[in-house]
Amino acid sequence: MRTPGDRSAAAPRQLDFSVKEQTLHCEKNLRGFAAKSPKAAPPTGRSIHMTAPADPPAGFESAPGFESAPGFESAPGFESALSSIAAAVTLVTIADGRDDIGVTVSAFCPVSVHPPLILISLIADSYPAELLGRLDLFAVTVLASGQRMLAGRFAAAGRPGARLLLEDVPHHRGVLSGALIPDDALLAMECETVSRVPAGDHLLVIGHAQSVLPGNESGDPLIRFRGRYPALA
Ligand SMILES: Cc1cc2nc3c(=O)[nH]c(=O)nc-3n(C[C@H](O)[C@H](O)[C@H](O)COP(=O)(O)O)c2cc1C
Repeated sequence: MRTPGDRSAAAPRQLDFSVKEQTLHCEKNLRGFAAKSPKAAPPTGRSIHMTAPADPPAGFESAPGFESAPGFESAPGFESALSSIAAAVTLVTIADGRDDIGVTVSAFCPVSVHPPLILISLIADSYPAELLGRLDLFAVTVLASGQRMLAGRFAAAGRPGARLLLEDVPHHRGVLSGALIPDDALLAMECETVSRVPAGDHLLVIGHAQSVLPGNESGDPLIRFRGRYPALA
């Protein structure tokens, strides 16, 4: 998940936290993806969850004044609190046919062992989210502590494609996803999207891990904490 140290230029956006309306907001975002893209096509994921229940989920309605609580729309301190959650840093890479795209992502987590599912969270109005709104295959590479330079490259605004960003480091192309995968990472997974869930200003993508590519098993992870990459003690 992007934290204040990751991209400061983004202006805060007004969000509506009614379940129904937030979903509409997200659906609009996803439709916007299609409209913005010259290669626009309907999403092809196996199941795309873009609707919320008409009624609030159980328990949701039990918070009186929830939607209008003062400060709820901004939750002061929330964004900076996120930077205090230590997270592994990954690269998500996608082959879109014409180009290779990659992005640094720390909002990655395992979801299920049987079946093997993982989740990534992407800034909803970012290009990688647009791509994964319509393409199903991607790779996630869990970076090693020595790969900090890659984390910076793949987070830079206006960055070129992954082919150029990986030009001077050993890498290969995933057999299943076709995505570029840097070598010397802790591990990589090739995934196929099984579900997309709009969530506030992010898009959650749940992927079925189809292969695990073991890497530097004795290496330390690259960790993001409070805007820095501290070494493991
Ligand atoms: C350490 C770190 C972690 C990040 N984690 C995420 C993340 O989990 N999800 C995300 O969408 N962007 C994340 N970002 C921001 C993206 O890497 C990237 O800057 C952003 O998507 C803008 O990309 P764009 O130019 O493609 O729009 C992170 C950046 C850094 C440096």
